[in-house]
Amino acid sequence: MRLGIISALHEEQQGLVEAMQGPQKRSHGMRDFTLGTLWNIDAVCVLSRLGKVAAAMTASILVEKYAVTHIVFTGVAGSADPHVNVGDIVVAEALLQHDMDARPLFPRFEVPLTGLQRFATDLELSTQLAGAAKDFLRDELAKVIQASERQEFALQHAQVHRGLIASGDQFISSAMHVKQLKADIPDLLAVEMEGAAVAQVCFELGVPFTVMRTISDNANEEAAVDFMRFVQTVASPYAFAVIQRLCQRLAG
Ligand code: ADE
Repeated sequence: MRLGIISALHEEQQGLVEAMQGPQKRSHGMRDFTLGTLWNIDAVCVLSRLGKVAAAMTASILVEKYAVTHIVFTGVAGSADPHVNVGDIVVAEALLQHDMDARPLFPRFEVPLTGLQRFATDLELSTQLAGAAKDFLRDELAKVIQASERQEFALQHAQVHRGLIASGDQFISSAMHVKQLKADIPDLLAVEMEGAAVAQVCFELGVPFTVMRTISDNANEEAAVDFMRFVQTVASPYAFAVIQRLCQRLAG
């Protein structure tokens, strides 16, 4: 196995590059790839930047140039469901592009000429990731996040959810907008800007993949305010600890 680890922003995979053994830096397509070993797993870390095109390009390079066999995307998302709270982790079972609309040629959300609206994640990889996330929340949350921040973001009751994540080239910061999306896609749990693009690339190239998103905001008018502080103080330690546990599970 060679595991590609993608995040949009530096903070969403902070510490992983530093934790790599035998790191080798490569640059391609305006991105920096670090190849090395993470907890006995052969891995390649890269930042995609934001948006579906950036994510699709990054996933393609990981597979075609750096020969990864599996991909994990780790980052943050806005909640699209009343049961999914800030500080929870969503592991995707499937991903959908919520801004794909080629009607009347194809049904809304269908990626033209694939016949698919939803791209499923790899069951084994997602199950391991969800297990790693649950173990982290149960055993380690209090060790890696200070009490003041656990309280501020109400992380005491953080949970892991599995289900549908939707991606689009929009940072959603309107309660009306997210409510409309939820009405159109009733099982939607979270919204972000990259996962479904990685999903389409992995589907087309036959590469198993999964996506983990820590909920940073409620995709409403306060979303942008919550976002940056949350990413720095909470998302970084979450991603590091969960990826560590995932690698340990995959290596064991
Ligand atoms: N990533 C984190 N929060 C988000 C939001 N509200 N919309 C889109 N992507 C996000």
